[in-house]
Amino acid sequence: MKKVRIALLGLGNVGRGVCMILNSNKEEIMKRSGYEVEIAKILVRDKNKPRGIDVSKELITTDFNEILNDDSIKVVLEMMGGIEPAREYMLQCMDKGKHIVTANKMLLATNGDELFEKADSNGLMFKYEASVAGGIPIINGIDESLTANKIKELYGIVNGTTNYILTKMESEGLGFDEALKEAQDMGYAEADPTSDIEGYDAQYKLAILSSLAFGTKIDIDNVYREGITNIKPIDMDYAKEFKMVIKLLAIVKENNEKLELRVHPTMIPKKHPLANVYDSFNAVFVKGNAVGDLMFYGRGAGDLPTGSAVVSDVIAILRSNIDLENNNSVVKNNLWDRKIADIKEVKSKFYIRASVLDEPGVLGEITAILGKYNVSLRSVIQKGDQNEEGNVTIVLVTHTTSQKQIYDSCNEISSLRSVNNIDNIIRIEDFKN
Ligand code: NAP
Ligand code: HSE
Repeated sequence: MKKVRIALLGLGNVGRGVCMILNSNKEEIMKRSGYEVEIAKILVRDKNKPRGIDVSKELITTDFNEILNDDSIKVVLEMMGGIEPAREYMLQCMDKGKHIVTANKMLLATNGDELFEKADSNGLMFKYEASVAGGIPIINGIDESLTANKIKELYGIVNGTTNYILTKMESEGLGFDEALKEAQDMGYAEADPTSDIEGYDAQYKLAILSSLAFGTKIDIDNVYREGITNIKPIDMDYAKEFKMVIKLLAIVKENNEKLELRVHPTMIPKKHPLANVYDSFNAVFVKGNAVGDLMFYGRGAGDLPTGSAVVSDVIAILRSNIDLENNNSVVKNNLWDRKIADIKEVKSKFYIRASVLDEPGVLGEITAILGKYNVSLRSVIQKGDQNEEGNVTIVLVTHTTSQKQIYDSCNEISSLRSVNNIDNIIRIEDFKN
């Protein structure tokens, strides 16, 4: 049996999952890869931190050079997160001829070019299945199994933390902070959960998926982003009334030869398969011109699901015909330019929740402004009694309209004396084009 020595950069949630899988599935991994996989070193910040798994202390180091300068280490698994030093470490490892597996979507979405170019020019393999949707094989799915298609649309629930929070708020009435704390305890959230709840994590993942699905480079600044911090139980109740649910969706669509790229809370029909993706589960719904509708579904975060993707990438490297001594990887992707739609022009249906004075003529003033901006209304709801300040909640649902029309009209509506506040604006996606 051939042996391969690998190193782990990071022993947090994902690193722990990788160690557990390498240990528990040793036999299967040997049979499938033809190699006995040996962990040579594990880089951490704090050598004395309890790890909750059985790992020899001898393997743990805080000195990256012990990994970099060990020529017997052929594959390096980056599971530290963040931009630096992860970027610098991976570049240095590739200069030393080491293949890379990473789970780091933030780094890939912002500095991916330089890493891919380094791997290409050094004949190395660079794998990143774990960077999007945890254990779901979506990167390989798009990059290998769907390459015969023109992909027209892709909708993803790609952040486990926010899906967990939304699920717990909706089904158990948990508060936002309590649900976030649970997601952190389960190991789903990023080290700084702002990345999850403000939609950055999903933005990175959408950039990676769109780049693969549409064969182009995606500048992260071209991906519109909103998080879930403004979603309140009342919005969920209204969604329920419309037979809808609220999900943080990552969407890319080709429309008039331009790509729409956006991450935002979205009301979707309860009967759509994505509406039934709960907890930390993720799903990616793809429309290909040959394959039709397809949905990938599974655990989007957590130690073992993510570890599954990382270890499978290691096995893919070992199973490829690459000569680990003389690097000869020739995997190349041809990329082409795509036009990106301006988010202000991107059209959708909208839900608008406002608090207004409960007095005659208010709805008339509001609808007059919407009419001025050519926004057509589908329904208007006013329920319940006014609060102590004399305000009442109204909900407006529009027909398809551009974001610019909505924002311009809502700005003007907010300035009305009778309007206390526009409390929330949420897009509605009914999957009818
Ligand atoms: P984590 O629990 O915070 O673990 C990070 C590990 O990296 C820790 O062991 C830490 O060492 C080590 N580390 C961080 N900075 C370091 C530095 N400068 N030098 C040496 N070691 C350093 O993070 P995680 O949840 O495992 O996530 C790791 C990566 O996988 C991130 O890119 C994340 O986005 C991605 N990812 C995570 C999940 C998930 O479900 N958690 C899923 C998919 C992808 P100490 O332990 O000593 O502090
Ligand atoms: N924080 C991420 C999530 C981890 O919640 O989806 C998986 O990428």
